[in-house]
Amino acid sequence: MFFPLETLMVRQADLKKDRFYKRAKQEGYRSRSAFKLLQIVRKFGVLKKGDVVVDLGAAPGGWSQVAAGVVGGGGRGRGRGVVVSVDLQPMEKIAGVVAVQSDLTNEDETVKVVKEVLLSRGKALVVDAVISDASPKLSGNRSYDQFRSLELSRSALKIASALLNPHGAEDQEGNFVAKIFQGAYYEQFYGAVKERFRFARSFSPSASRKRSAEIYVIGKGLKKRQGKWK
Ligand SMILES: C[S@@+](CC[C@H](N)C(=O)[O-])C[C@H]1O[C@@H](n2cnc3c(N)ncnc32)[C@H](O)[C@@H]1O
Repeated sequence: MFFPLETLMVRQADLKKDRFYKRAKQEGYRSRSAFKLLQIVRKFGVLKKGDVVVDLGAAPGGWSQVAAGVVGGGGRGRGRGVVVSVDLQPMEKIAGVVAVQSDLTNEDETVKVVKEVLLSRGKALVVDAVISDASPKLSGNRSYDQFRSLELSRSALKIASALLNPHGAEDQEGNFVAKIFQGAYYEQFYGAVKERFRFARSFSPSASRKRSAEIYVIGKGLKKRQGKWK
């Protein structure tokens, strides 16, 4: 599939006419991307109340706002979920969200930082969902950008494999969502998700721009494995 990169660069004037941009402003979301996660959650049920969620490539925080809303972050009661948001950039505070700065391609360090946050919040080291909307800065070279998108998605999958708990029960599944740019590497990544999760699908939310190359790969129920996933 061919997607000219210039279609990914959105002009300010077009943005103002965009219905998801307008809705994000009206509903207090930090990004129009929030609606992509809302659609994914509605269709695939990847998040639920009380979950511990890791949001990779989280800034400015639209997905984290949606995740915190679903898991019930921000309160003090038992069973309240929490969202740990990871990005290279700092993020403004959101109730129920702990933001950390880390390069997710440094997977071991990111896993360590997330575990430290969970321990400091008195949480068990059990993560229910890892979601990633991470994108590389576009270079204008389509193949190179597709490869960098693959690298981010692959790192997200490694982090998910290290943090998610492989349960059997359907209501305790370890779930995964990651963005990848369609192109040469997409099948490879989809295959890796399919190998690790009981259920795998790819999905283009209507909130994605029509000509955008992005697609989301969803995995539900991390499979049990002898030894750790690599
Ligand atoms: C499309 S934005 C995410 C939008 C976000 N989901 C929201 O709803 O507000 C992509 C993010 O990926 C982050 N990112 C790119 N490479 C990264 C890396 N190596 N480690 C951590 N974050 C990264 C960028 O800093 C950027 O904030």
